Amino acid sequence: MEEVTFHKHDVVIIGAGGAGLRAAIEASSQGVKVAMICKSMLGKAHTVMAEGGAAAALANKDPRDSWQTHFRDTMKGGKYLGDWRMAQIHAQQAADRIRELEQWGAVFDRTPKGKTSQRNFGGHTYPRLAHIGDATGLELIRTLQQKGIHMGMDVFMEFTVRRLFKSDGRISGCFAYDRNDGSLHVFQAKSIVLATGGITRCWEVCSGSWEYSGEGHALAYWAGAEMGDMEFVQFHPTGMIWPPSVKGILVTEGVRGEGGKLLNKEGNRFMFDYVPEMYADEFADTIEEAEAWVGEVVSGQLATNRRPPELLTRDVVAKAINSERAAGRASEHGGAYLDISWRDPDEIKKKLPGMYHQFKELAAVDITKQPMEVGPTAHYVMGGVKVDPFSQETTIPGLFAAGEVATGLHGANRLGGNSLSDLIVFGKIAGEHAATSSKDQTDFSTIPQSEIDDVVEETLAPLHRKGGENPAKVVSDLREMMQNKAGIIRSGELLEEALADLDSLEDRAASTSPGGGRIYNPGWHQALEIGAMVTVSRMCALAAHRREESRGAHTREDFPETDHGHWSKVNSVITLSSDGSMKIDFSSYPEIPDELMSLLDADDLQEEE
Ligand code: FUM
Repeated sequence: MEEVTFHKHDVVIIGAGGAGLRAAIEASSQGVKVAMICKSMLGKAHTVMAEGGAAAALANKDPRDSWQTHFRDTMKGGKYLGDWRMAQIHAQQAADRIRELEQWGAVFDRTPKGKTSQRNFGGHTYPRLAHIGDATGLELIRTLQQKGIHMGMDVFMEFTVRRLFKSDGRISGCFAYDRNDGSLHVFQAKSIVLATGGITRCWEVCSGSWEYSGEGHALAYWAGAEMGDMEFVQFHPTGMIWPPSVKGILVTEGVRGEGGKLLNKEGNRFMFDYVPEMYADEFADTIEEAEAWVGEVVSGQLATNRRPPELLTRDVVAKAINSERAAGRASEHGGAYLDISWRDPDEIKKKLPGMYHQFKELAAVDITKQPMEVGPTAHYVMGGVKVDPFSQETTIPGLFAAGEVATGLHGANRLGGNSLSDLIVFGKIAGEHAATSSKDQTDFSTIPQSEIDDVVEETLAPLHRKGGENPAKVVSDLREMMQNKAGIIRSGELLEEALADLDSLEDRAASTSPGGGRIYNPGWHQALEIGAMVTVSRMCALAAHRREESRGAHTREDFPETDHGHWSKVNSVITLSSDGSMKIDFSSYPEIPDELMSLLDADDLQEEE
């Protein structure tokens, strides 16, 4: 029998990015015993990839901003498919969470009057992103970590969770292994918060770090939770594309927020061509006049609600870059040029220090003098575990979810900056309710030995297999397949192929043999990760296949229009059937009440009818 170590905590938080840390702080402050399990080292989380800022209606740069406008922008950006209750809570609470971070020591950039500075980002009516240069996520993690480690929680670093346990329908714990020494662990828990982030490592070109293989999504699904909106995966328009070794690494939207222009190989500022109607009445006839106007907006000389065309929502910009490439107007290595060199070099280095160094060191490009080369990169999944908007509890009692692993706030497309504020708003709520829920449980449930034996056997199985494929090859084939068949532009035919390919990838995954033993063995870790990657990729392909329209981040070339009838009202819901197959259904959020409906954009809503 394998040795298994047992742990007991009232609340177990799985994931140590912004949402996990914020949940852990909140739960600990309620006096319950908290464990935090991180796949990586504490402080190393994908949260750092939200570089440009956290959206909150502080109204520091433009006094006209308010939670109502933030709510409207979020619903509009999500193409009205999001849960309005989450959008309302988020817009109302984000500003307080930012102020709280400042009290805890986050060093935000300042306006000349000493207020928290805010910058423009796509889809936000006013400059709304509180930021720390272009390292906002990093500072957010540093601050929360500093606060969290003084709260007395137990931290388990470099542990991967493989299964959630339930007793009488309620969550009762989880099983994990230590990636360093291969030791096996059972965590008994009265409630669990999933804060595992996203799934974007399932695409070949992505901004996600290695942890992003979708285990959180898969764990919830395998345990029987409802999963929503899994077809919606956001491609950030600007990732690095050259040299190949850095392909996908994020180039913050902050570059465009600070006035970066997108150009094609002919030197044309092509974004104007994709939405000429939006700018027609704003300035006269020439691109030169348009550019002058944009320059004034960026430098703050002109107060207007209009934004430069590069700050249209990410779905629009990513598709425009894709179309330029299809039309033969791509940059040298197949993307677009992003040029900020027209701004003062010192300003660039002050506002975008990370980008300056990133391009200097990784691509030998000086962005104060030369344009960057960029292209779309898989960045974020809007879909995830369905949660109650007020408590973040999933459809499994005692299991909570917050941040990217949860769904609801962002609908069909997330606005940049709404991720960091999502983490701190809903991380807090999840931590609070997980703690309260744990206090309602008198004792820990017993986890049956047979279930532990089962997951131990499954976890160690790859080490006993001989002569199979290298798991790295299966992972790389899966990522290439998802890039080509479930990427920015999809079709029914490609998605059917993707689903068939996933069946065969699943078979191949079951026979990989990584070799080696249990002491730090990346091949073994990868052999285990493939199960989750296949499962979440299948959720995405299945939901994308069923949604026969184009909306937000989901574009079907065989259904290019947005359907303002049926599909505007329904969200996909995926569950595990009792026969082990994946089932898809559809449901709707409650109707938006009149007082909130009146805040939304009347033109859009007419279209939606
Ligand atoms: O471009 C960025 O800095 C990313 C921000 C986000 O995804 O929220």
